[in-house]
Parts: sequence; C-alpha cells; structure tokens
Amino acid sequence: MQNKFYDLKIKEIFKTTPDCSIISFDLNNGEKEAFKFIQGQHLTLKATINNEEIRRNYSICSSPLDGELRVGIKQIPNGVFSTFANNNLKAGDTLEVMPPHGNFNVPVEPNANKNYVAFAAGSGITPILSIIKTHLMSEPNSTFTLFYINKNAGSVILKEEIEALKNQYLNRFKIYHFLTKEVRDVALFDGRIDSEKLDIIYSSLISTENTDDTFICGPEDMIFLIRDYLKDKGFDEQKIHFELFNTTGQKYVPSEEVKAHSGEICDVTVQEGGKKFRFDLEIGKTNILDGALGQAADLPFACKGGVCCTCKAKVLEGKVEMINNYALEQEEVEEGYVLTCQAIPLTDKVVVDFDV
Ligand code: FES
Repeated sequence: MQNKFYDLKIKEIFKTTPDCSIISFDLNNGEKEAFKFIQGQHLTLKATINNEEIRRNYSICSSPLDGELRVGIKQIPNGVFSTFANNNLKAGDTLEVMPPHGNFNVPVEPNANKNYVAFAAGSGITPILSIIKTHLMSEPNSTFTLFYINKNAGSVILKEEIEALKNQYLNRFKIYHFLTKEVRDVALFDGRIDSEKLDIIYSSLISTENTDDTFICGPEDMIFLIRDYLKDKGFDEQKIHFELFNTTGQKYVPSEEVKAHSGEICDVTVQEGGKKFRFDLEIGKTNILDGALGQAADLPFACKGGVCCTCKAKVLEGKVEMINNYALEQEEVEEGYVLTCQAIPLTDKVVVDFDV
C-alpha cells in the first residue's frame, strides 16, 4: 500500500443531490499513472480542518473506462470532512489524496456471460455504479440487476447517470428503486429491505441459481442481512462481495491468548516504504497501528475501524489477532495479511510489512 499523498487539483464539483457532491480531479501524466484504479476502489482524502488532520475514504464512482477520476461525498450529520467538502470545496482547490485501493471487485472477463446483482443504499451506490458500468461496458454478454434503496425520490444519488446507463443497456441492465420514506403503489418497493422482501425478490425477480456475483454496499445491518440471507440459501459465500463505509464495530472480547500475555512487552517491527521502524508495545493495550503512530511513525490509514483496508500489512514474524475485519478476504487472512488498526500482538516479537 502506497503511503503517499498527492496534491490533486479539483477539476469540477457538481451536486448530484443537495447533500452529495461529485468531485472530479485534474490529473497530470504522472498522477494518471499513480491513480490508475480498478472499479469499486476508493481514495483516502486528507485535509486539515479546524487545525486537525482529518482523513476519510470515499469510493470512486466513475469507471476506469471513463478516463476520469470521480468520487462522491455525501454530507452526513456532524461529519467534519463531508461538511467541509460539501460546503467549502470548489473547482481549482487542491486536496491531498492517496492512490486508489480496495478489493471490492471481481475481475473483468470480456467473454463472460454472467448475471451480476447489486444492492446499494444511499451513497453506497458510488462504488456499485463504477462496478456496474465497467462490467456492462467490458462484458457484452453479461447482465446487471440493481436494487437501489433511498429515502425518497429526491435523495437518489447519481440518478441521471444511472438512467443513462439503463437507456444505453436496456436489455442488460435492470434497476429496481426502493424508497423507505415514500409510499407507492407496489408495497415491495416501500420501506427497507428485510427478509420477507428478499424472499419476494429471490422468488419473483431474480434467483440465486442464476446469479454469479452479488455486490452489496450500504449500512452495516443491510449488508449483513443480505449476506446472511444468501448464505442461508446456499449461495456461494465467495461470490458475495460487500463494502462497508463505517461500522459500529463488535464489542471486542480479548481471546484467552491475549489475556494470558496481557501486560507483556512485544517487540514490534514495522516495514514501510523500504524503511524499518521498531518499538515496544504492551500486549493488550492497543493495536499495532496506533502503537506505531504514537511513536510518530508515518503509516497509511483512514477509518481505523477495520473497514477500509488502508492499513493492510503482512505479518512476517510472530502472531496477532484482529478485533474486527470487514475488509480482508479469507484467503488474504490465511496468507498472513492483517489490518494493523485491528491487530493486537500475541507474541513477544511481531514483524509486519506494509510494502507487500
Ligand atoms: S485504517 Fe481502515 S481498516 Fe485499518
């Protein structure tokens, strides 16, 4: 993971809804190379707001095939960065931006004949739109069905772009709008997604048997409801892909192993940018990322909640346990990757490498 911020110039900002800005960046040739991205990835943005450095991750809503880098920032109540972005930023300003990262994608296969399904709620549409556009443009035989949940018709983010896509791919792209705060003729499309609605969706509109991959992005409870529903129906878990923007987190109960070593000192070595950094960390006190940042290390991070994957590193020596992991795939965990913001050492020596 590249821990380098670039000063990117904002090319244009437009409001897709009154509280959501779409920001595009002007990239020179070197920046174009550094900011090549895969559909579904996100950017870490950094700004100093009221004398405090704030970092946030925002999903790229354009497709790599658009030739443009765009992110969507929805203003959330009391959101420091999102309020700043929606109220203060303008074309010509610069923002500090880290190159794209994230695993919310499946490879594009031009000869594929797949049926993809996506569930997006609110600003969860941003990575999903990038994914839909890319697969529809690159796989002429694949289809996409989108279930898009919003409060009301006025809060539908990127509505025009989605409609244009629907018109362009009439036979391969279907969209069903759900509105949680508006009553319409068909009860199915009113209110939040729940298991009864999923039963109807999967018996009358789509089927698990005919779905290849499912992408989900929205609030935690919606993501886990759909994920668990699909798992119960026998849908291959490897084909359920989700992106969480934030989480309330599960209560951390230290394992017996952490408890057994609690208070002992772990000799931590962090490798990043070709450099090594060593420090002592009391086992059970905090995670490796915070321990290192507390010693003035400069490491990549954004959410600190086990969601964004920005702090991913590989354990080369020793053992750690993760508090929450909403970002790494099972295979990555098996290969030794960890989210350092969630990693508690279990051994007296741990070496982690951010460069692999
Ligand atoms: S900083 Fe986001 S997962 Fe660690």
